[in-house]
Amino acid sequence: MQRASQVDQFITERWLDEPAVDRGDLPPHDVSAPQGAMLELLARAVGARAILELGTLAGYSTLWLARALPPEGRLVTIESDPRAAEIARRNLPPDVKIIVAPALEALPGLSGPFDLIFIDADKQRNAAYFHEALRLARPGTLIVADNVIRGGAVLDAEDDDPSVRGVRDFFDAVAAEPRLLATAIQTVGSKGYDGFALALVTSDRVGT
Ligand code: DHB
Ligand code: MG
Repeated sequence: MQRASQVDQFITERWLDEPAVDRGDLPPHDVSAPQGAMLELLARAVGARAILELGTLAGYSTLWLARALPPEGRLVTIESDPRAAEIARRNLPPDVKIIVAPALEALPGLSGPFDLIFIDADKQRNAAYFHEALRLARPGTLIVADNVIRGGAVLDAEDDDPSVRGVRDFFDAVAAEPRLLATAIQTVGSKGYDGFALALVTSDRVGT
């Protein structure tokens, strides 16, 4: 959608100060600049001091999230592809911890709580990532997941694309969790038609 891409450019030129990043030959699966700025804004809005990201790629969204943290903040990002992690290492400041491992291997070794958790790794395991995110959360933690709409394919229960199945499983997992205030927002722009899930962990919903 060319117009929506141009609007992303319009927003970026007028309002945003995009971090510089070397993407090497990695796929264009990073967030757009307006989406990256939204991540920074959300992290600041929840007063995040500890942030966890699943799926680093070149570290573009990581750089936006890093901007939200105070100097003593903690930023951990997990990347399964060593080639991507190497590129990210060059893009990110040394105090950002990059764990090079499949997220489901790395997550059990982490202890929380994290104040914001951004799920943006392979989509097929999204429900499992969400359960690990809950373990690493506290009341007030904001969980954000990218790519949960997938051009509307999320509607199709018969779709056997593992990514579509993964985001559908993720929707079920969120629905089954009472300790959350959750929504999903559809997006257009330079990254096409997709969307984010936003889930706030709330204590008052326990047992409701
Ligand atoms: C894909 C993954 C992403 O994180 C993204 O933002 C877009 C696409 C993918 O694997 O297809
Ligand atoms: Mg993504």
